[in-house]
Amino acid sequence: MKKTIIILILLLIAIQFIPTNKTNPPVNSAITLNASDEVMVILKKSCYDCHSHETTWPGYSAIAPISWNIIGHVNDGRKALNFSEWKNINPEIKIKRLKRSIKTVNNGMMPLPNYIRLHDEAVMSDADKKIIVDWCNKELKK
Ligand code: HEC
Repeated sequence: MKKTIIILILLLIAIQFIPTNKTNPPVNSAITLNASDEVMVILKKSCYDCHSHETTWPGYSAIAPISWNIIGHVNDGRKALNFSEWKNINPEIKIKRLKRSIKTVNNGMMPLPNYIRLHDEAVMSDADKKIIVDWCNKELKK
């Protein structure tokens, strides 16, 4: 038993040395999303940690194996929808993502519930949801 615990602790220490790639690629103002302040404030507090190059990495994201999970979410989030590359997103994909944003914001799937538990500030009020849904609808008409 004692031996197992020692091995586990050594393993936990060892995995801290596995390199991870926690990145915040540069933001290019030519292609990044540029919406009204009202919309930007909400997207930044509720979506940008996973859907942009402006991720605020929490302290615990430095500790393996939690870090692997967080980096995975951010990479998947950026792949699915990246507001830092907004103007480069193919128009057909953009329509799909806007429609899905309306749906996921309304049904509480976005921001991810697991994330909300640790980020009170990202919780969206009904007023926030309405602003984002209205913005998506406006973008869809463009
Ligand atoms: C904690 C990270 C996180 C936050 C915060 C977050 N998302 Fe996501 N989002 C993801 C991940 C990971 C995926 C890709 C995996 C998936 O499809 O479930 C995703 C996928 C999406 C998709 C594509 C889904 C599809 O089925 O087409 C949309 C649209 C989206 N998010 C919108 C938003 C919006 C809008 C916000 C803010 C209100 C937000 N997300 C906040 C992590 C996040």
